[in-house]
Amino acid sequence: MGGAVVTPHLVLIGLMGAGKSTVGERCATALGRPFVDTDRLVELNAGMTVAEVFSSQGEPAFRALERTVVADVSVSPEPLVIACGGGVAVDADNRRALREHGVVVWLRADPQELATRVGSGAGRPLLDGGRGGEGGSPAVKLARLAVLREPAYEAAAHVIVDTDGLAIGAVADLVLEEYRTWNG
Ligand code: S3P
Repeated sequence: MGGAVVTPHLVLIGLMGAGKSTVGERCATALGRPFVDTDRLVELNAGMTVAEVFSSQGEPAFRALERTVVADVSVSPEPLVIACGGGVAVDADNRRALREHGVVVWLRADPQELATRVGSGAGRPLLDGGRGGEGGSPAVKLARLAVLREPAYEAAAHVIVDTDGLAIGAVADLVLEEYRTWNG
């Protein structure tokens, strides 16, 4: 292994509604570097929205597009701030790539608070779609996903930031503090 020492990306993971994009944009501005969002890059590559990819091609196709995006952004020579779609860290290859090239921060939040933030879940197929047998409100679905994904988020994260009750600016400050600590 070895290789040149490069500045790591700042990578944000966590469930839908955790604030990855909003916090990520703030952090990118503060660090003076580009912000990328894996969902937006998938949409750019696919030429359609995430919801359209899910409905026309199915979730496996979405995950494949997502893996390609993660592999690409991870090896960007320019340090980035990367907001990951909620399911990115579930994939072992994604976790490996992001941990290798970035400082991975899990924005953790109580599912009930996440549900308040995402509202009806519009535009988020895992929340507003009736996926076979997985009924329930966004709150119920988020609680289920939280239990299922916690081990993956934990395995992916270098740092955990608890966001409950915090304003976006305060979360961004905590993230930047942790990132700077990790980054020396
Ligand atoms: C997903 C989260 C979404 C998006 C897709 C699937 C998930 O991103 O990637 O709808 O599996 O949790 P956000 O977390 O940015 O909403």
